[in-house]
Amino acid sequence: MAEKVQISIDGRTVDLPTLVASEGANVVDVRGLIAEGIYTYDPGFLSTASCDSEITYIDGGAGILMYRGYPIEQLAKQSNHLEVCHLLLNGELPSPAEYDALVKSIADNQDVDEQYQQLFNGFSQGAHPMAMVGAAVSGLAALHHEDTDITVHEDRVKTAHRLIAKIPTIAAMAFRHGAGKSFIAPDPSLGYAENFLNMCFGDERDISPTIAKAMDRIFILHADHEQNASTSTVRMAGSTDCNPYAAISAGISALWGPAHGGANEAVLDMLNEIGDESKVEEYVAKAKDKDDPFKLMGFGHRVYKNFDPRAKVMEESCHEVLEELGAEDEPLLKLAKRLETIAREDDYFIERNLYPNIDFYSGITLQAVGIPTNLFTVIFTLGRMPGWISHWHEMLSAPYKIARPRQLYLGSNARDYVAIDQR
Ligand code: SDX
Repeated sequence: MAEKVQISIDGRTVDLPTLVASEGANVVDVRGLIAEGIYTYDPGFLSTASCDSEITYIDGGAGILMYRGYPIEQLAKQSNHLEVCHLLLNGELPSPAEYDALVKSIADNQDVDEQYQQLFNGFSQGAHPMAMVGAAVSGLAALHHEDTDITVHEDRVKTAHRLIAKIPTIAAMAFRHGAGKSFIAPDPSLGYAENFLNMCFGDERDISPTIAKAMDRIFILHADHEQNASTSTVRMAGSTDCNPYAAISAGISALWGPAHGGANEAVLDMLNEIGDESKVEEYVAKAKDKDDPFKLMGFGHRVYKNFDPRAKVMEESCHEVLEELGAEDEPLLKLAKRLETIAREDDYFIERNLYPNIDFYSGITLQAVGIPTNLFTVIFTLGRMPGWISHWHEMLSAPYKIARPRQLYLGSNARDYVAIDQR
């Protein structure tokens, strides 16, 4: 890209500088347009960078995802979720001492007090866990409003540790409340994923190391993903200097949508609706039909126009878990594979670069380990927590402005009020 771009409008020429990326696309810095009274228009931000960031990089064409420069495939296979939390938040892999300090900080912050637990009594047993988790995280804003100075680096890091520590406890409480069961306290002697599974199922089964490892890998795969809708929501809310727990709760609400993090739950609902392989072609046809709102859930992505690298790792994990559980012949997995095969041979999907995304296989894995479908997006929330709070911390660690997009106004021109007896 040239060092500058020129825009000519109404006989005027405006020079705009370009900003150079360390990886991927450079950008045209359009901030100078406002002085000329010129706005740009880009609903959905398909070609708009809302910020600069050093945290995560995606190359959608090449199917590349890196956290702080480390490829997701390597982190998923060699690291663990807490180490990835440190990496996302601080920019470097932790030293042994830093890792031990993080593990201790998380263990020290996992608990929630009795009064806070009463929050869940306000929900019916059938309440959707995402609604409960969003409210519970917002409840942390009530607990930590006066004691958090967002302008202080140490307070921001403490907030990050609190959220990373407490989200498994809150998620497990939502699950147990929905199951009509009493809560199981966090056990600081257990690993991060093992502790979460123990808080969910500890009264009925031992937690297998394979399942705990698969869950930890699911958290890593979901940990961050550039300026996706929920992360952008956290940045937008955080730009008002609001309570960070409230900003994160806003991100949870955005993630819940089936076009975003709610897709993993929607994939299972879709597979159960399709039922068996004989109906796959019928549903693929529905997905291609412009007049039918049905979409293949777990397919397509705003950025990936190739395989979502997370989906590949997720599929491997899925096979490992099903093998451990002796469920390799899981009908839903066979149905999913059939659906993927047909879709990926179909011109409609090929022309639109629609590939399976992370949500396509995660649900089958989660269901296999006993996570109820309506808790799938809560698992996504748990995984994404370090990403959200790292972006919030990154934004507040440098000068920032309140996010306030403009618009293209297409409403009425000025007109005078008419009294009701004249209308
Ligand atoms: C996540 O942004 C992130 O990084 C998100 C995420 C993260 O980690 O944070 O990766 C997590 O949200 C993954 C995506 C989960 N959502 C789903 O699986 C839901 C199904 N997918 C679609 O809703 C859709 O693909 C989106 C929302 C994911 C992407 O939508 P875009 O980029 O706005 O693309 P589009 O809707 O403009 O689609 C382009 C074309 C359209 O057809 P035409 O008008 O060109 O004829 O592709 C079609 C769409 O109709 N299309 C699909 C489809 N997805 C897009 N057709 C059938 N089934 C689909 N799934």
